[in-house]
Amino acid sequence: MLAGKRILLIIGGGIAAYKSLELIRGLQDQGAAVTPVLTRAGEEFVTPLSVSALAATAVHRDLFDLTAEAEMGHIQLSRSADLVVVAPATADLMAKMAQGLANDLASTLLLATDTPIMLAPAMNVRMWDHAATQRNIATLRADGVQLVGPNEGGMACGEFGPGRMAEPNEIIAAITAHFRQGLLSGRRVLVTSGPTHEPIDPVRYIANRSSGAQGTALAAALRDQGAEVVFVTGPAEVPPPDGVEVIPVQSALEMQAAVQAALPVDVGVFAAAVADWRVSSASDRKLKKSKDGLPVLEFAENPDILKSVAQMGTGRPPLVVGFAAETNDVVDNATAKRLRKGCDWIVANDVSPATGIMGGAENAVILISEQGAEAWPRMGKAEVARQLAARIAAHIAATTGDTQ
Ligand code: C5P
Repeated sequence: MLAGKRILLIIGGGIAAYKSLELIRGLQDQGAAVTPVLTRAGEEFVTPLSVSALAATAVHRDLFDLTAEAEMGHIQLSRSADLVVVAPATADLMAKMAQGLANDLASTLLLATDTPIMLAPAMNVRMWDHAATQRNIATLRADGVQLVGPNEGGMACGEFGPGRMAEPNEIIAAITAHFRQGLLSGRRVLVTSGPTHEPIDPVRYIANRSSGAQGTALAAALRDQGAEVVFVTGPAEVPPPDGVEVIPVQSALEMQAAVQAALPVDVGVFAAAVADWRVSSASDRKLKKSKDGLPVLEFAENPDILKSVAQMGTGRPPLVVGFAAETNDVVDNATAKRLRKGCDWIVANDVSPATGIMGGAENAVILISEQGAEAWPRMGKAEVARQLAARIAAHIAATTGDTQ
């Protein structure tokens, strides 16, 4: 799963360049956005047109391309990716990298970038075995560059041995593994999000103003920490993030069933604004106006999903995080709520209308744990999510003594 990942793919000059076309496809199938760069030598093997048509974006070719410089600049291009992949990485390109040369677009990008680099070498077996190449590889490895392949086998030049470029699926697996190195890699995390809709009849329901923005941002941030995320969401305004397992629900009862089915998990984050009550007298037919008077709705209490998971005993997630939307006495109410619900942390916020938090882009939270209350400065919901996901990841790593 490479959803949302931006890959800068540098295609060097080698017969294996034709495999880069398949690589672009495969990366896109996994949800990655690929920005291609083609070296002059690469152009001898694949055409700029085929590369840009497949990548569905312009292919960068020239260091002194004034349009590109005006629009983006090669420094920015080199940094606007999550990973730089060089495939095929020729002996020449690796030698330039090892020496820090920057005399064309590819080598300049590789020198200017502050993004991790992965190379898929491809060359004749003697070139690979040559002491100079091996020296360069040792230098590049020491510089933190990752290598995938080369494989051993018959080559286009008729010789046999190491030097064949790794297959596109192997490169994609290496890229996926690279992004899984977060502290939550191998961990399963449940996030509930959004409002619930409690039916009155088949066309009417009771809802609340939750947009699902904070829960969605959290699911994405936990995914970025390497977690496998199960995202149980009510009918939210914002779309669910890519790269997570989405379980859409409508009512609190459906949300509870989905949560139970998602267990066991390592972390449960309950960001949903669950309706406290449902209409117990919900009709399976549309209510009609009647001269006998107004309809009377009867209510029943919804199950407290957070509480039931936090207090489940065997099988309880090692970390259970609840949210508390309060309009007054935030710390006192949220502190009491943490104890009442039995969860480990409460992320509390003031949702009184004057704050503009409910449905807005920013949040000001207070993290309440056994250690007390910690007020965070007001920041964007994505930043709150990022910092919370980092705290969760650090906590799990510390308490299990295992960073996987
Ligand atoms: O009690 P209150 O609704 O303020 O608690 C908020 C916290 O409890 C949130 O984490 C919310 O997701 C969770 N909750 C729940 N099920 C409910 C009500 C709230 O999981 N029925």
